[in-house]
Amino acid sequence: MRKNILHHWSKELSYEIRKIVEIAKIVENFWQKIIWENIWDPVAKWEKIPEWMKKIVQKSCENDVIYWYCPTKWLEETRKFLAKNNPKLNPENIIFFNWLWDAISKIYKNLAFDARIIWPNPAYSTHSSAEAAHAWSKHITYKLDPKNKWNPDLKELENKVKFNPNIVWILVVNPDNPTGAVFKKDVLEKIIKIAKKYELYVIFDEIYEKLIFDDKNKTLLSEIILDVPWISMKWMSKDLPWPWSRCWWIEVYNKEKDKNFSDYIDSVLNSKMLEVCSTTLPQKVLPKLYLSPEFEKYRKIRIEKYKQRADLAEKIFSDCEKIEIVKPKWAFYLSITFNMEKFSWNEKISLENKELQNFIDETIKNSDWRFDKKFCYYMLAKTWICSVPLSWFNSHFEGFRITLLEENLEKYEKILNTIKNFIKKF
Ligand SMILES: Cc1ncc(COP(=O)(O)O)c(C=O)c1O
Repeated sequence: MRKNILHHWSKELSYEIRKIVEIAKIVENFWQKIIWENIWDPVAKWEKIPEWMKKIVQKSCENDVIYWYCPTKWLEETRKFLAKNNPKLNPENIIFFNWLWDAISKIYKNLAFDARIIWPNPAYSTHSSAEAAHAWSKHITYKLDPKNKWNPDLKELENKVKFNPNIVWILVVNPDNPTGAVFKKDVLEKIIKIAKKYELYVIFDEIYEKLIFDDKNKTLLSEIILDVPWISMKWMSKDLPWPWSRCWWIEVYNKEKDKNFSDYIDSVLNSKMLEVCSTTLPQKVLPKLYLSPEFEKYRKIRIEKYKQRADLAEKIFSDCEKIEIVKPKWAFYLSITFNMEKFSWNEKISLENKELQNFIDETIKNSDWRFDKKFCYYMLAKTWICSVPLSWFNSHFEGFRITLLEENLEKYEKILNTIKNFIKKF
């Protein structure tokens, strides 16, 4: 008989943020258009592509070299540009990937089978699912605490790395998705101290670093790192409304300080060398976009708009005792956690449309879903607002995430009030 072809850990590879879209599309057929609060998709939320950016991209498209393969590691000029103002970074230690999945599948697959990464909880699920699939085992996480402004529980982190010799890396997402947190310098320094004490490496996902509301709160790992080997992950597409640019790179620091780390990075590079790179256009325009005098002006205006929405959300939800919010410190997302003692677990929401009611009740009944998932499905069917349950970020906390994307402030206020009223009734 033929052998089962399914990978033992295939179920770990799920991306529920997009799965809810399938349900939302069915719900949409019942009545009206869905209000998409599940994902950062700026153009879909009417963010305008700035003319100066379009011009730079258009001009580059006239150049035939855009249509080439580009070297596997990256275009030399772009690597030099990225390393120019960073004396700790050798351009040779920048490795470019076609996008996040290309990066993390190579980064995790090249780790020894039993070498593990410890994650924040809640965690951005593409990272954590891929690592769990690599290890054929559940995620190992440290808590981000909503009662302490989503700061990491450093005691838990230290205990876990101390008693689990398989943990070799600490991963930090700063600024963090889904919590909206930006960690202070002293918190980051304590994480580095733990890494140093237990001889661990560090990975920082810093893709949102240009989107922090107040630049005074920004600490890049490259500013505080000592001699701990580490990787920073970066990505241009969030700094501009250009999600498809798929231009992901890692910066490797202190490679030469640790032979095992250095060999590992070489193995990542070797697996990268098996293919050429496809994203010549974003690489070519990256320096031009960042160097444009328009970029900084645009960034500031954009951040101000997101900040206004974060202020508004804080104001609207402040009198809702069933939930807690920590005001986001950077642009895209807001996570809301439930005070569970104020909710009834068996709540059933009644919907005007009986067919839709049956569909939602059946979908929820047939699963062992967590409370926040049921909440989000009912909210979707009752208010047409599509959000993401925190349990989908491997969170122990019940709650959900929305975006700060809506360009029309009046409309955004209406969305937030609708959510608040739904919570109050639930
Ligand atoms: C922390 C973090 N890293 C990486 C990514 C990947 O970005 P993209 O979905 O544009 O590939 C995201 C996307 O939300 C993210 O939040």
